[in-house]
Amino acid sequence: MPNKLAVLVSGTGSLLEAISDAGVPVSLVVADRPCRGLDVAAARGLPTELVCRRSFETDFDRAAYTRDLLAILQAHKIDLVAMAGFMTILDEVIFTAYPREIINTHPSLLPAFRGSHAVRDALADNASETGCTIHIATAQLDAGPIIKQERVPIYPDDTEDTLHERIKTMERVLYPAVLKKLLKS
Ligand code: GRF
Repeated sequence: MPNKLAVLVSGTGSLLEAISDAGVPVSLVVADRPCRGLDVAAARGLPTELVCRRSFETDFDRAAYTRDLLAILQAHKIDLVAMAGFMTILDEVIFTAYPREIINTHPSLLPAFRGSHAVRDALADNASETGCTIHIATAQLDAGPIIKQERVPIYPDDTEDTLHERIKTMERVLYPAVLKKLLKS
């Protein structure tokens, strides 16, 4: 039974906030860059590690970065990992070490709108609804086994921000509930 959860963040950390405030025990927060997510963790007294990306260009050494991150997770004896707005694609070595234990939430109804512009792409597609998907992360981006999905309507006057916020409101309920269950199972 997994009992040591790490949450990976890159941005505002509002999902981390929701996870922690729902009473899900978070053993470690890892960020790939300085971000508000680290402040959220610090404000809650959660242990943090900054595994900083040295490059956002084509010279980024994804394999080396992933090895560094993996070493930190293993040093903390982490057995469940939740990506919560983590924006670095990881090398497959980490999915070999954690074949079913890395969970992600994605702001679309997968397999629709994979990738980092899921909200923008749903709007551009003139879709009338989208949603969020909690799934097991694998080396294939946004394609791992689905754990839970929920629909979210798209309104005619939506912008990327208003739609993403509506999706995140759903994720902030769904993701903590799924993680709680996984930590108990
Ligand atoms: C969420 O919509 C998640 O699905 C996506 O990034 C967002 C994270 O939001 N991958 P925040 O940084 O926790 O506010």
